[in-house]
Amino acid sequence: MTTSDDFPTDNLDHAFSAVWRMLGEGVSDRRRVFHTPALVSVGLDGWPKARTVVLRSVDRENATLRCHTDLRSPKVAELEGNPRVGVLVYDPGQKLQVCLQGTATIDTNGEIADGAWASSTLWARRCYAAPLAPGTRTDAPFSNLTEALVARQPTEEEAEGGRGNFATITVEVVRVDWLYLLATGHSRALHVRDGAQWTHSWLAP
Ligand SMILES: Cc1cc2nc3c(=O)[nH]c(=O)nc-3n(C[C@H](O)[C@H](O)[C@H](O)COP(=O)(O)O)c2cc1C
Repeated sequence: MTTSDDFPTDNLDHAFSAVWRMLGEGVSDRRRVFHTPALVSVGLDGWPKARTVVLRSVDRENATLRCHTDLRSPKVAELEGNPRVGVLVYDPGQKLQVCLQGTATIDTNGEIADGAWASSTLWARRCYAAPLAPGTRTDAPFSNLTEALVARQPTEEEAEGGRGNFATITVEVVRVDWLYLLATGHSRALHVRDGAQWTHSWLAP
C-alpha cells in the first residue's frame, strides 16, 4: 500500500501518465502493491486463471510489462494457446484500481530472456532450480527446493542449472481501465491502444 497522492482525475493524459508512473514505481519499489499484480489468463480448460506475479519491468513507450516465470508452469502453455491476458492491481492507499488487457509473449532465449536472467539475483534464480514443475502433485508438503538449497542461495553454477526453466512473459498492453475512488464521486476512464496511438475516454464509474 502507498500513501495517497492526488490522482489527476481532471485530465485524461495526466491520468494515463500517472498509471504508467505507478506501474514503473511498482518495478523498483517492492513495498508498492503495483509490485505484485494479478496476471489473469484463460486456462486450457476455458476457465479464467489468476495468479500473483512480480512486475519486473515496464516500458511506457512500447506499452509493455514484463514478469518472469518457470517455463514448466501451466500458465506458459496457457499463454502459448491463448496470449490474451488481464493484469489487475488495486492500491488501497491510492484508492486506485487498474485493469489492463494485453497479449503475452513468452521468451526463453535471446536478448530479452538472457538480459532478464543476467539481471536476476541468485536468490531469485533459486526458484528455477526447482526439481518439479510448479503445480506438480506431491504426496506430502514439499518446498520444491533441493535439500542443499533449502537454507542458502545457490552458487552461480547451481543457479545456472535452472536457466533452462527460466522464461519471461512480456505483456503488450492494449487497454487500460482505471477507477479512482473518491468520497465526492468516483472517477473512471478507459485508454485503448490503436496501433501507436491511444484513445482516451471517460467512463461512468
Ligand atoms: C507475492 C508473489 C509473487 C509471485 N511472483 C511470481 C512471479 O513473478 N512469477 C511466477 O511465475 N509466479 C509467481 N508467483 C507464484 C504464482 O502466483 C503461481 O502460484 C505460480 O506461478 C503458478 O502459477 P500457474 O500454475 O498459474 O502457472 C508469485 C506468488 C506470490 C504470492
